[in-house]
Amino acid sequence: MSIPRRVALAVIAFCLAPLAAAQSKDPPRKPVVGFSQVGAESAWRTAETASIKDEASKRGVELKFADAQGKQAAQVRSLRSFIAQKVDYIILAPIVESGWDEVLGDAKAAGIPVLLVDRGVKVKDESLFVTLIASDFVEEGRMAGEWLAKQTGGKASIVELQGTTGAAPAIDRRKGFAQAIAAHPDMRIIKSQSGDFSRAKGKEVMEAFIKSEGRKITAVYAHNDDMALGAIQALDEAGMKPGAGVTVISIDAVKGAFEAMVEGKLNATVECNPLLGPMAFDTIEKHRKGETIPKFIKQTDRLFDQSQAAEAIKMRQY
Ligand code: AHR
Repeated sequence: MSIPRRVALAVIAFCLAPLAAAQSKDPPRKPVVGFSQVGAESAWRTAETASIKDEASKRGVELKFADAQGKQAAQVRSLRSFIAQKVDYIILAPIVESGWDEVLGDAKAAGIPVLLVDRGVKVKDESLFVTLIASDFVEEGRMAGEWLAKQTGGKASIVELQGTTGAAPAIDRRKGFAQAIAAHPDMRIIKSQSGDFSRAKGKEVMEAFIKSEGRKITAVYAHNDDMALGAIQALDEAGMKPGAGVTVISIDAVKGAFEAMVEGKLNATVECNPLLGPMAFDTIEKHRKGETIPKFIKQTDRLFDQSQAAEAIKMRQY
């Protein structure tokens, strides 16, 4: 008995249906990510921007990038624009710690998870961000202070170049350093001022320090390498021998710092990892899968001094 053609076609169509469905299944859509960056005040920051941009393009993720040029108001505007564009995730490197409750609340209300990179925020409700991927800035300051105490035998008249006022690394690096030198009564910070994390400002502030304190200064603690490099220039111009007559220590461990250590002008630098792109996008992937994300994903740092500089510079990626 022959099966009617109509029935045979229906049976074939039924059997092939799951295969067709499987074939037409679209791969999961890549997220659209908005990245709000502080600016380009330092070599470190440029390396961080490149790391996040490179990682997004490696993964085929659409990245909307906004440079706030050092202004929190511009950064808040960029977050509002990302919310209006309905991005899937926001990566925020916040300029300062405070003033984020409202805009992060708006992102949360719009269902957009926010990841903080490199700097933390002080908010009333910690659920306003998924996680902070960063170094422990207090620990970095402490490492710098402990190293200086050892190097100077606990005796130093220090000038401090602070980072941007109100920024987490400026607050915490100051705190950690102060904790470390507290046990040494002959280590004193004789001047402390913001150099805004930039080389030009670091030089300008150092020139003012030299004018008021002159040869009383025996050590410089800069919250980042760029400011230390500016200070080194000012010391050189004043004939004050950075690296020998005046001990200079800073934070970041960018290539320029290693060059200055090889030249003998910078004594030490504490590493702060800016290559956060891979970790940021891995975290987004985990979050999309519903995995639990720790509130702080800490980067581990180490200190480099002149004795390690020539060898270590060959491996530096930033
Ligand atoms: O937040 C990290 C700090 O910001 C880096 O130390 C500094 O170079 C940058 O601008």
